[in-house]
Amino acid sequence: MIDYHDFIAEVLIPEDSLQKRISELGEKISRDYAGKELLMICILRGGVMFLTDLIRHIDVPVAIEFMAVSSYGIGGRESSGNVRITLDLNCSIQDKHVIIVEDIIDSGHTLASVIELLQTRNPASLCVCTLLDKAERREVDVPVKYTGFPIPNKFVFGYGLDIDDYYRNLPFIGVVDLDKFKPE
Ligand code: IMP
Ligand code: MG
Repeated sequence: MIDYHDFIAEVLIPEDSLQKRISELGEKISRDYAGKELLMICILRGGVMFLTDLIRHIDVPVAIEFMAVSSYGIGGRESSGNVRITLDLNCSIQDKHVIIVEDIIDSGHTLASVIELLQTRNPASLCVCTLLDKAERREVDVPVKYTGFPIPNKFVFGYGLDIDDYYRNLPFIGVVDLDKFKPE
């Protein structure tokens, strides 16, 4: 894997801006769900960093669960629209207040499928919290209650988002210069 300094076009969202916005989202969620219990469902793997930072700013009782979904073709950077659940929940969501936590909404196919599936399980409420929203790329409509940052149509990495499986660990969001990113 090449060093990210060789393909990063720019830092789109620095660490301090991410953390500030995430604390605001956590405070908003705490106000909106005051007096209730929350189940936050993280979509693996991109949503992990966001989930773990976000829940530190929530002061209602929170349970966490994980789902994994595959929508990209092998090695691809475009959602195929062909969404498969590769890891399902371990618990019932019936009568629970559920927030789906996502790293980014691009075409919307992934979340549209997850929402459709979870609605059939009769939660008390269900909504979406996404860190990033590439609204320009939307192909299917997805209701989003909480958005960290709207972003332009660029391929981004870091803070949970991967480029060919790496660099999820970076504390900021960077833009990939796809002319410079040459997989080995
Ligand atoms: P959608 O189904 O097209 O909305 O794709 C959503 C999923 O695609 C996200 O959960 C990410 O895993 C992935 N994704 C979309 N855009 C990017 C990007 O710019 N960088 C890294 N992953 C992305
Ligand atoms: Mg991904």
